Amino acid sequence: MQPLVEMKGITKRFPGVTALDTISFSVMAGEVHILLGENGAGKSTLMKILSGVYEPTEGSIIIEGKTFNRLSPKESTLNGISIIYQELSLVNELSILENVYIGKLIEKKVLGFKMVDYNTMFLKTKGLLKRLGLRRKPSDKVSDLSISEKQIVEIAKALAFNAKIIIMDEPTSSLTSEEVTRLFQVVRQLKREGKGIVYISHKMDELKKIGDRVTVLKDGCFVGTKTIEEIEVKDMIKMMVGREVNSRYLSTKSEEDIRKNKIFQAKNITRKDRKVVDVSFDIYEGEVLGFAGLVGAGRTELMDAIFGTAPTSSGEIFLKHKKINNKNAYSTIKQGIGLLTENRRETGFFHNFNIEQNTTFIDSIKKSFLGGIGGLVNHKNDNAMVLKQKEQFNIKCRDVKQNITELSGGNQQKVIIGKWMASKAEMLIFDEPTKGIDVGTKSEIYRIMRQLANDGKVIIMVSSEMPELLSVCDRIVVFSQGRIKTVLSSKEATEEKILSAAATQS
Ligand SMILES: Nc1ncnc2c1ncn2[C@@H]1O[C@H](COP(=O)(O)OP(=O)(O)OP(=O)(O)O)[C@@H](O)[C@H]1O
Ligand SMILES: [Mg+2]
Repeated sequence: MQPLVEMKGITKRFPGVTALDTISFSVMAGEVHILLGENGAGKSTLMKILSGVYEPTEGSIIIEGKTFNRLSPKESTLNGISIIYQELSLVNELSILENVYIGKLIEKKVLGFKMVDYNTMFLKTKGLLKRLGLRRKPSDKVSDLSISEKQIVEIAKALAFNAKIIIMDEPTSSLTSEEVTRLFQVVRQLKREGKGIVYISHKMDELKKIGDRVTVLKDGCFVGTKTIEEIEVKDMIKMMVGREVNSRYLSTKSEEDIRKNKIFQAKNITRKDRKVVDVSFDIYEGEVLGFAGLVGAGRTELMDAIFGTAPTSSGEIFLKHKKINNKNAYSTIKQGIGLLTENRRETGFFHNFNIEQNTTFIDSIKKSFLGGIGGLVNHKNDNAMVLKQKEQFNIKCRDVKQNITELSGGNQQKVIIGKWMASKAEMLIFDEPTKGIDVGTKSEIYRIMRQLANDGKVIIMVSSEMPELLSVCDRIVVFSQGRIKTVLSSKEATEEKILSAAATQS
């Protein structure tokens, strides 16, 4: 069978880096082809060449017998290729219909004049939403949709263009487990319709469920292509990381030993908007405390209240027996608490700073406070620290003066994590820290979290990834509707128990 598309000998060089080195890759009709590799391996770059964003330095693309040396975005679309980016690209202010037909409105002639044919677009959009099982009206505004619904709209958009090949670059990084199940149903349907799907993900537990073939890249080079039946997940990891990866980082101390010294306390926290109601919990020395819950449970809202970025009507927090004045983020940071936010695009980093500036920023705030004069910051040790982090987290960059927006998605996230780990904070709250991070680096982040906890720091991890909570947290708080439902120790916690507690209504 002839592939829908074949990429041959693709090389892509950016100034100072070979992102892809003579890569070959193909997609068949009716298959999900998983593209796997560490952060910065070249996955997104290869797909951007297919979607016409980048011109390959060398190589060719063959679509239905036609050979191209490069594709423009328009040629790519006309040849049936559609890409759903790591960061979705819908316009929030517009309706579903407008987003689906953006840039390619259907027109009709009325009395010799060209008019936009809303009726046809409405009916077509309605048909697409039905086909994809999305219970929404074409006129609904995109800003009202959940992330998974937005993803389905992106797929509708692809289908409206008659896409034959749909590229999904980390589609599930922000989805809950039920939403992932829904997306997979849609993907299976697309397969039955003969579409070819390229699927990129760092969630290793998904791959066997959805893939037909796997291609692994490493540092821009081809490692291998296998059918899903002939390879186990642990071998995929070995192919991409080059070694086996440890995934359990629980405390080695006994529960009784851990419960000796209370180092953080939250008392009766209630938000003014009541998204969090009367929440109290403790953290003991040497413990990593996890927060599980469904999306919308209020975990991020709780962390905002603790950090001082959301108004509260009651509540106090104590760090190492000292009451913390958390009236705003600036004050909270100064007293030693850091928050790694869930949404890196909006709040995680400073776009026009380079890697080094991003990494040392938090420390600069603290130093400038202690030194009394803003601006007068001692940068002498910064470079060594940044270089150490680059090494530790395997941050792929040309040098630390490179702008952060040029890094691959996962490497941007690593810079942000490094920023907080470097901040010498006494307490760190990580909200979905490993989104988009490859399996090898994930394990390194868990190891460092555990080490920080062992060194007496207070560590909270909010995560929607059950395997991650179970492998790192000594206790897991299950959160729902702005309240604590239950707290499970690592011994008693299972995915089923967490889910059932998270889903109970009060
Ligand atoms: N516009 C650019 N300018 C310079 N270098 C770039 C650019 N885009 C990508 N790169 C580099 O190319 C390499 C591959 O990046 P790419 O985004 O393809 O990685 P990826 O496999 O998608 O990683 P991730 O899993 O983190 O998303 C990286 O070293 C990256 O820094
Ligand atoms: Mg990428």
